[in-house]
Amino acid sequence: MSENIYTVRDYTDLSLIVEKLISKKRFVHSLSVAYTCAFILDLFKCKNYVKEYNCISGPIFCGLVHDIGRELSEENLFNYCKYHKIDLNAEIRENIVLSHGLVAADMAYSFLPNYPSSWSEAIKYHTTGNDTLDDLGLALLIADFTEPNRTFLSSSDRNTIYSNENIYTCALDVINRMILHAEKSKKYNVSSYSLKLKLYLECKLDK
Ligand SMILES: [Fe+2]
Ligand SMILES: [Fe+2]
Repeated sequence: MSENIYTVRDYTDLSLIVEKLISKKRFVHSLSVAYTCAFILDLFKCKNYVKEYNCISGPIFCGLVHDIGRELSEENLFNYCKYHKIDLNAEIRENIVLSHGLVAADMAYSFLPNYPSSWSEAIKYHTTGNDTLDDLGLALLIADFTEPNRTFLSSSDRNTIYSNENIYTCALDVINRMILHAEKSKKYNVSSYSLKLKLYLECKLDK
């Protein structure tokens, strides 16, 4: 775990820290993910998550910090994981960019010590999903995919996604779109974490 350099007292602190770690474009994306994540939790009336810790809101914190590891080079991601003893399985070693969530979750402890483990899980798996995510983790995954600056989605696709019945059908919709995109592009394999989440959601929805 990272050593404690700063401690976040409020959103101004948090925004200032995050703004220094990433580009302006990614900061705008992160801010948008934060507010979209809060919007989704509200939209689906979600209750299964930790709302606040030390007066900091879960969706805002997770949204703001989720990509703080995204601009590290592949070599620096690998070295960070090695130095901080973050376990990397074969799949993540093969596609080291996937470790940026693991790195972000670890870095975030340095400015909000002991933040909830469910928030850490959400940050770690915001790109692929995982079967360990609570409602906040699912909302972060959906928000990262649908926030308004994402140009690959039309507003009608975005509205279709938000018209789902609940957070589980909505997350399944997003995972299915991600899988379809991976299969079409043939540039990368579908992550085993996404497949685990798909199975988990289908069982939960009894599909
Ligand atoms: Fe990311
Ligand atoms: Fe992101």
